[in-house]
Amino acid sequence: MAIWPLLLLSAICPLFSSAITTTNKPPAFPSSFIHPQQLRSSLSTKTNKLYEEKFFTQILDHFNYNPQSYHTFQQRYLINDKHWGGPKNNSPVFVYTGNEGDIEWFAQNTGFMFETAPHFKALLVFIEHRFYGKSMPFGGSKETAYSNSSTLGYLSSTQALADYATLILDLKKNLTATDSPVVVFGGSYGGMLAAWFRLKYPHIAVGALASSAPILNFDNITSPFSFNNIITQDFRSESENCYKVIKRSWQEIDDTAAKPRGLEILRKSFRICSNYVGAGALQGWLSSAYTYAAMTDYPTPSNFLSPLPAYPVKQMCKAIDDPKTGNITFEKLYGAANIFYNHTGDAKCFDLIDNSDPHGLGGWSWQACTEMILLTDGSAEDSMFPASNYSYNDRVESCKYGYNIEPRPTWIPTEFGAHNIHRVLKRFGSNIIFFNGLRDPWSGGGVLKDISKSLVAIVAKEGAHHVDLRFSTKEDPNWLQHVRKTEVQIISKWLSQYYHDLADSSHY
Ligand SMILES: *[C@@H]1O[C@H](CO)[C@@H](O)[C@H](O)[C@H]1NC(C)=O
Ligand SMILES: *[C@@H]1O[C@H](CO)[C@@H](O)[C@H](O)[C@H]1NC(C)=O
Ligand SMILES: *[C@@H]1O[C@H](CO)[C@@H](O)[C@H](O)[C@H]1NC(C)=O
Ligand SMILES: *[C@@H]1O[C@H](CO)[C@@H](O)[C@H](O)[C@H]1NC(C)=O
Ligand SMILES: *[C@@H]1O[C@H](CO)[C@@H](O)[C@H](O)[C@H]1NC(C)=O
Ligand SMILES: *[C@@H]1O[C@H](CO)[C@@H](O)[C@H](O)[C@H]1NC(C)=O
Repeated sequence: MAIWPLLLLSAICPLFSSAITTTNKPPAFPSSFIHPQQLRSSLSTKTNKLYEEKFFTQILDHFNYNPQSYHTFQQRYLINDKHWGGPKNNSPVFVYTGNEGDIEWFAQNTGFMFETAPHFKALLVFIEHRFYGKSMPFGGSKETAYSNSSTLGYLSSTQALADYATLILDLKKNLTATDSPVVVFGGSYGGMLAAWFRLKYPHIAVGALASSAPILNFDNITSPFSFNNIITQDFRSESENCYKVIKRSWQEIDDTAAKPRGLEILRKSFRICSNYVGAGALQGWLSSAYTYAAMTDYPTPSNFLSPLPAYPVKQMCKAIDDPKTGNITFEKLYGAANIFYNHTGDAKCFDLIDNSDPHGLGGWSWQACTEMILLTDGSAEDSMFPASNYSYNDRVESCKYGYNIEPRPTWIPTEFGAHNIHRVLKRFGSNIIFFNGLRDPWSGGGVLKDISKSLVAIVAKEGAHHVDLRFSTKEDPNWLQHVRKTEVQIISKWLSQYYHDLADSSHY
């Protein structure tokens, strides 16, 4: 029932809904072009050394005392104690607050924690979010857990945060490490959770590194045009021609599709597999490539969402600007798509209909229909996407259709705050780093200015989606090295404050 595959990691815009409704196929949102083979092979080479997998018996519902609430499920977490200084030294515990997918995937893309663990003598813990990966309530089967709104109703950010609190306290008790300070880390939705965790559970975490956390993307605080504006800026910053070719292409695709045998022309031009081709699906597929390339516009080769070269936006624009392609729009766009979807060179053809969900990311459509109303689908007249006013009503309709529920767009700001955040948090809260890279379309919903001395914003003009959390490489540019160094310094300060206070309190 992936009716609204609007992952935080994949803000798919329903820009092409008119084209889509002309077919009876569902729109192909390639939310899952990360193929399971890729994940598994990277797991077998790396993971076993990185962490140990454990399970914790977690309570189904933290917020009431109905008998049903006492049901439990197995929550997965990953742990690495290789560098931990141990409980005697009250050495710190670094916790990743898992987001909407398999926790191993996030662990493998959060090198920052592994690389700083020796320095801090930190224990590393990565906790999986309920309803994702192997952490399925209702007996461990995803099919059952995702059955209907009575089961999915237990999937929410507040429950997830309570899971983290419960698990962390129990783990510390087991390790006799009750005085070890905890620092939480997260990127994207995981970054929002990290920031909210520090605000809601200050007695459990001394600080949070919230990377690329669009906590202000709710309730019209951030313009719904912001997301696509930033993607447009990214491509336009490479070349004006690149922007223009993309901008004019949507109409050309529609025009071609409307011609006799037009769909076959599209299929050939873009090497699309023989199963399905449609203008809307093709536009969605291209749009995803631009969106994800902007999000993961990293300065070094990466394999987060898909295998990509360094600076993929630049590479895609290079393909579009390539004089060899003359002035043939489709050939140019094919070149760009090929960089995004076929960096490995393994693709035989491109499949526009891919409903598999190898990362277990599918629960996001439920979250996007309940509380995660992150509106990103507006496109201004000068956008590289077709101009479109965002429509909250479209969201409501598809959520009613898919789950028979209505979103609660104001709940997140009610629960966690977001309006006037600078004024509100100025004298409340402390020890949160908000990192944002301005190439990242999500940065528009991030905290980009310091709120107080200890609620700090680190902004990297050249940065993309939680680039700071990634494993470092020798090719990392200076600005990125500097960001990480600053983050380490700030975390050190939190910890020394904590140890200072701990020593003080022993006098009482
Ligand atoms: C929802 O799914 C659960 C688990 O499959 C099932 O037991 C229950 O009867 C379903 N409820 C409704 C209202 O369909
Ligand atoms: C703590 O120990 C108990 C008893 O062995 C175990 O059941 C529980 O899962 C442990 N907690 C964590 C977080 O691993
Ligand atoms: C958000 O802004 C749009 C456009 O300005 C407006 O139509 C809508 O009513 C606003 N929604 C809320 C919840 O304020
Ligand atoms: C390229 O093609 C587009 C549309 O087909 C046209 O508007 C544009 O003028 C052409 N540019 C050149 C340099 O021929
Ligand atoms: C993927 O790249 C390889 C190597 O460049 C190429 O041979 C193949 O045709 C490409 N696949 C598609 C679908 O274009
Ligand atoms: C968006 O809304 C504005 C103001 O209501 C209107 O002028 C404009 O034509 C709309 N744009 C689209 C693409 O519907």
